[in-house]
Amino acid sequence: MELAGKRIVLGVTGGIAAYKAAELVRLLTGEGATVQVVMSEAAARFVTPVTFQALSGRPVFTDQWDPRVANNMAHIDLSRAADLLLIAPASADFLAKLANGLADDLLTTLVLARDCPLLVAPAMNRQMWENPATARNIATLRTDGVAIVGPGSGDQACGESGPGRMLEAEEILACTVAHFQPKLLAGKRVLLTAGPTFEAIDPVRGITNLSTGKMGYAISRAAQEAGARVTLISGPVCLPCPVGVSRVSVSSALQMHAAVLGQIAENDVFIAVAAVADYRPARFVGQKIKKRLQAAPPTIELVANPDILGEVAALPRPPLCVGFAAESENLAEYAESKRRSKKIPLIVGNLIEDGFAGDRNTLVLFDDDGQHPLPPAPKIDLARQLVARIADLLEKTR
Ligand code: PMT
Repeated sequence: MELAGKRIVLGVTGGIAAYKAAELVRLLTGEGATVQVVMSEAAARFVTPVTFQALSGRPVFTDQWDPRVANNMAHIDLSRAADLLLIAPASADFLAKLANGLADDLLTTLVLARDCPLLVAPAMNRQMWENPATARNIATLRTDGVAIVGPGSGDQACGESGPGRMLEAEEILACTVAHFQPKLLAGKRVLLTAGPTFEAIDPVRGITNLSTGKMGYAISRAAQEAGARVTLISGPVCLPCPVGVSRVSVSSALQMHAAVLGQIAENDVFIAVAAVADYRPARFVGQKIKKRLQAAPPTIELVANPDILGEVAALPRPPLCVGFAAESENLAEYAESKRRSKKIPLIVGNLIEDGFAGDRNTLVLFDDDGQHPLPPAPKIDLARQLVARIADLLEKTR
């Protein structure tokens, strides 16, 4: 459970996205957090406090003068008992109040009196979001150290489309989990590759492999959680892009090669997780190859793809390069020989026993200090351990 022992005050303000906050409570408590909901008067017009009470298992506060609080200091008591104050949805009106330090109801008073971090998920009509007054308020809040997550862009309840949609509950959960991770890569830029490549033979066929992208996506999420600016060059996979990560989608090894070399400047770390095809068909057949009954089966001539990681490691001023090696036998020998041939400081070996697709993995890190086994664990846990090792190596090479 990602949020075990964490105490979160969830402030809900008046907007149609308040219905998504109900799902958010379920997700936060599902990860082990204790959630105390505080609603503005307007929020209670969209969703009743009873819904939040049932989902959080705790009475909901809406009123500054709540007689349940003996000393009438709900704003102080609630804030002091929290590790994080999360406002979702945060309406334009509420953001304006925060930016100006207004405290005219329980939730605004609580925010002003807080001594814990504040995470805010705005939700409003696109014109309200683009209004210079809102932009000013957001800039002020950022300067004040408030973390703003989203908004997303897309269809809105009012029938319009554009920026201003509150992030989905799963995305706000991911931002909340990220908030509690140590910022080991703050200020660093990380470029990754993930997933398989697809080497087309004709318009309907190609050479690929079974990589799902899960390991690479988990590492991009872990690096983003650790405070890095992350760009993910992804082969064809069916995974959503982690929140806060910038994704470039490619298909073939040549496209991945071009995307990596186009983006590599200014990066501090390059992590090559992708299972890149070593070879591609020498020529692409423009029309579907037809089966001819009596003829011999066709042969496909292959040519070598560029070694993306090898090229990055050979740059005059390379970033810290991390490779991966998936082996079905002799893991240590093969992984070490790849590390030496590509001249990289760290390679991550995984023994492929049950295929790629699982959510768990077992890794061994190989570097100048020797081997460091990481026991079986969910890919996100392994990703966070790898990020910690990378942060150590960056520190050493400073
Ligand atoms: O995506 P999942 O289903 O979660 O699975 C994850 C994984 C098993 C694919 C991943 O953990 C992994 O091990 N990826 C590397 C697979 C491999 O063995 O690659 P390789 O031996 O072909 O290449 C070694 C290294 O060079 C890799 O870092 C690779 O990205 C890189 N490489 C390889 C060839 C090439 N042309 N360019 C490269 O950059």
